[in-house]
Amino acid sequence: MSILKSFIVFEGLDGAGTTTQIRNLAKYYEFNKREYTITREPTSNPIGELVRKVLQKKVETTPEALAFLYAADRSDHLYNPSYGIARLIEEGRIVMSDRYFYSSIAYQSVECDPSLIRTINSFPSPEFLIFIDTPVEDCMRRIDKRGEEKELFDRAEFLTAVRKNYLAELERLPEGVNLLVVDGRKSIEDTEKEIRMYLSSFSL
Ligand code: TYD
Repeated sequence: MSILKSFIVFEGLDGAGTTTQIRNLAKYYEFNKREYTITREPTSNPIGELVRKVLQKKVETTPEALAFLYAADRSDHLYNPSYGIARLIEEGRIVMSDRYFYSSIAYQSVECDPSLIRTINSFPSPEFLIFIDTPVEDCMRRIDKRGEEKELFDRAEFLTAVRKNYLAELERLPEGVNLLVVDGRKSIEDTEKEIRMYLSSFSL
C-alpha cells in the first residue's frame, strides 16, 4: 500500500464544511510561505465536469457508470501528464484535496456493489485524512440554507447511509494514514485551530 507524503485529504458529508476548512488551511500555508496546491474532486477537468452534469441532473446515467466516471476523474487527477497531482506530491509540495477515493467508498457503495467500488478505487493513500464529522441533520440544514437546487445525493436517508460507510472505512485505514476526526458541530475557528495543531505536530 503506497502512501503519498504531504497529501492531505478532507472528507465529510455534503454540507460538512470541508471546502471552508481546506481554504482556511491554504491561507495558513500561504501566510507561512509553504509550497502548496489546493484541489478537489470531482475535478474541474473534462471528466469531472461530466460528473457535475450528472450531479446536477443534466445528464442521466446509472450508479455504476457514475462510479466509473468518479474513478476515471480520480485517475486523471492523479496521473495526468500535464496536471497530475502525483508528481507535485513526489516533488514535496503540500497537496490538499477536497475529497478523494473515500468519497467513492462512502457514496457509491450505497447503490453499487461495494467490492466493485473498492476494486476500481485502488489508488495510493494520502498521508493525512481529515474527516469532518457532522450529523446528517446539520448537513441537511446547511444544504437547505444555501438555497441552491438539490444535487443527486442531497437526501437525508442517502447521507445517513453514506455516513455509516465513512465510519466503517475509517476503522480499516491502512498503516501510515494519519486520521483526524473533527466534530463538525464546533465553530469554524475551533475546527480550523484543531486541524492546524494536528498537522503542525507532523511539521506540516
Ligand atoms: P462536492 O464536494 O459537493 O462538490 P461541490 O461542492 O464542488 O459541488 O461533491 C459533489 C458530490 O459528489 C457530493 O455529493 C459527493 C459526491 N461524490 C461522490 O459521490 N463520489 C466521489 O468519489 C466524489 C469525489 C464525490
